[in-house]
Amino acid sequence: MSHADIASADVPVIAIDGPGGSGKGTLSTRLAEHLGWHFLDSGALYRLTALAVMKNSVPVDDEAALGALAARLDIRFETSRDGVKALLDGEDVSDRLRGEAVGVVASKIAATPAVRAALVKRQRQFRRLPGLVADGRDMGTVIFPDADLKIFLTASAEIRAQRRHKQLKEKGESVNLSRLFREIKARDLRDQSRSIAPLKAAEDAVIIDSTDLSIEQVLTKVIDMI
Ligand code: DC
Repeated sequence: MSHADIASADVPVIAIDGPGGSGKGTLSTRLAEHLGWHFLDSGALYRLTALAVMKNSVPVDDEAALGALAARLDIRFETSRDGVKALLDGEDVSDRLRGEAVGVVASKIAATPAVRAALVKRQRQFRRLPGLVADGRDMGTVIFPDADLKIFLTASAEIRAQRRHKQLKEKGESVNLSRLFREIKARDLRDQSRSIAPLKAAEDAVIIDSTDLSIEQVLTKVIDMI
């Protein structure tokens, strides 16, 4: 274990995992704000990698090329009063990041071991004092197995499709609800069945089903646990 690893082990982590649309993004951001802690949106790292893959026309089944690309990514997050900006090769790509097409490529390349390996260190670097709220699929199982609190947030696929539909509509993207539902189911299957770091609750995670809960209710529940 290196010096840096020992030091970072003293930094508290709350891991929030779950499928897309479960509300974990909002929960994690609000929790990080509430605690005054750092925030890791690990999905954004996979989406940035996906954008780079698309930009460089790398075939999604070329594992070696994907791994090499993920290892040399030039990505940065900049926090300002307007929120967090994601930069790829110095260019602000925040608006493009959340699109459905990028999400689909992100989910495909996330099944590649070389891509996941290249992103491990980058994710652990977010662990800084006073603490970290980490949002993703494998935060509690792989990236921060020693997290102080692990939450696995779920919701039915129907409600997740509806939430995502509303989100996209607000951004001016028009997507058919039943198509979104099918895509969410397909993405769940891909994320859950991949052999490396599949989407699943850590054994010591607290499972919260947000199907019938508002984000406020989930936030209150988690703050009570802390
Ligand atoms: O949370 P999100 O929708 O932004 O994530 C996009 C994709 O990235 C998702 O389909 C699976 C993948 N991902 C992952 O495999 N591991 C993570 N820790 C975060 C995201």
